[in-house]
Amino acid sequence: MTAAVELKEVKVLSAKYHLKDSFTLEVARQHGGYSQIDKAFGMEPGDIVEEVKNSGLRGRGGAGFPAGMKWSFLPKDNDKPVYLAVNSDESEPGTFKDRQIIEKDPHMLIEGIIITCYAIKAHDAYIYIRGEYVAQARMLQNAIDEAYEAGLLGENACGKGYRVDVTVHSGAGAYVCGEEMALLESIEGKKGQPRVKPPFPALVGLYDAPTIINNVQTIASVPYIIEHGAEGYRKFGTEKSAGTFLFGISGHVEKPGVYEVEMGVSMQEFIDKLAGGVWKGRKLKAVIPGGSSCPVLNAEDVAKCTLDYESLMENGSMLGSGGMIVSDDQTCMVRNLKNLLYFYQHESCGQCTPCREGLGWMYKVVADIEDGKGKMEDLDLLLSIADNVEGKTVCVLSGAAAMPCRSHILKFREEFEEHIKLGKCPFPK
Ligand SMILES: Cc1cc2nc3c(=O)[nH]c(=O)nc-3n(C[C@H](O)[C@H](O)[C@H](O)COP(=O)(O)O)c2cc1C
Ligand code: SF4
Repeated sequence: MTAAVELKEVKVLSAKYHLKDSFTLEVARQHGGYSQIDKAFGMEPGDIVEEVKNSGLRGRGGAGFPAGMKWSFLPKDNDKPVYLAVNSDESEPGTFKDRQIIEKDPHMLIEGIIITCYAIKAHDAYIYIRGEYVAQARMLQNAIDEAYEAGLLGENACGKGYRVDVTVHSGAGAYVCGEEMALLESIEGKKGQPRVKPPFPALVGLYDAPTIINNVQTIASVPYIIEHGAEGYRKFGTEKSAGTFLFGISGHVEKPGVYEVEMGVSMQEFIDKLAGGVWKGRKLKAVIPGGSSCPVLNAEDVAKCTLDYESLMENGSMLGSGGMIVSDDQTCMVRNLKNLLYFYQHESCGQCTPCREGLGWMYKVVADIEDGKGKMEDLDLLLSIADNVEGKTVCVLSGAAAMPCRSHILKFREEFEEHIKLGKCPFPK
């Protein structure tokens, strides 16, 4: 285990969060908003891509793919338009960091969009926002309207002779539309179902044209990288997990919320110090570290983990979207899994048989165990279904259900067995 980075809250993306009316253009500008436009437009687009590559910025939407490298996959000879799609679907249970960026500093995101569009030679950006974020979509649109009125967006964005138009597209409530290919289908007005990859969207994306899809937090990090350079960004975090992350924490903690820290801090310290520890003086039982699809960790694992891509991977889970869900020692892990599987089977788009059928069966078998009707052989059956759905479908939603299923059984098998032996759930309802 590598030594953890010192735990303290940092203010990179959240620098303006505490200001009154921080979401307005006036306040944003008073505190450095749009101040990196001149510097960015003074650079060659390719140099911005290189800077972002060197900064080590990795996608904050879940997979952690290096942002600059993704941008460099765009075709060099291309006669089609290039699009930017900003993923604000944020429907993964436990994840609520992008919402805060939109509520508190939407102009940081718009500045990031303008710079990114220039860097990847795009003129049209779409922000795909989850349907339930009605107020946030309105706030975003207000900020975009302000930016248009001030000449920051439009035909001559920021007076640089470069067109940047931004359109907000609200989803209709399907989790799968956060998956990048389903997101593109949905923007095109089609049924929100993932497309087969390859071709990857950098080559064939929106309206069959090259498209870069990035998470809100990824794009919002770009102005800081322009201002401080790749090295300035790399001062935060670890070598392979550079920068800061807006980690969300929810569940059984005293102070749930979003906290910005460097990557590489101790997960245990984060829970105990920033989130105020497990609530009601209880003990920690489990943490889902990065949104509900990440394999669950037990208390022993948590004590070993640092909040970076590598440590979570070494300990059998993932950093994902950085949304930690904490469970105390009175939590029924069978019921936890039942709730998760209810969500995933409901959200399957239905085009792949293993996902459409398998997730429903996983849910039914776990529900039976929770209701005292389970059999010992159900545990191996669940592991077998998990193996048979993961990696055999168009998108990874099936894996997003298989991973928590497998890890709940592996880490908390005795609880599942106790339910089966007793013929009932031993935890209070
Ligand atoms: C079922 C599913 C849901 C997803 N939901 C989101 C989401 O809400 N927000 C997001 O940024 N990425 C989500 N992703 C990941 C996206 O497909 C994509 O990897 C991401 O938007 C790329 O941006 P990034 O590289 O900046 O992380 C989801 C993936 C899957 C499979
Ligand atoms: S894995 Fe599930 S959600 Fe993804 S495309 Fe197939 S059926 Fe749809």
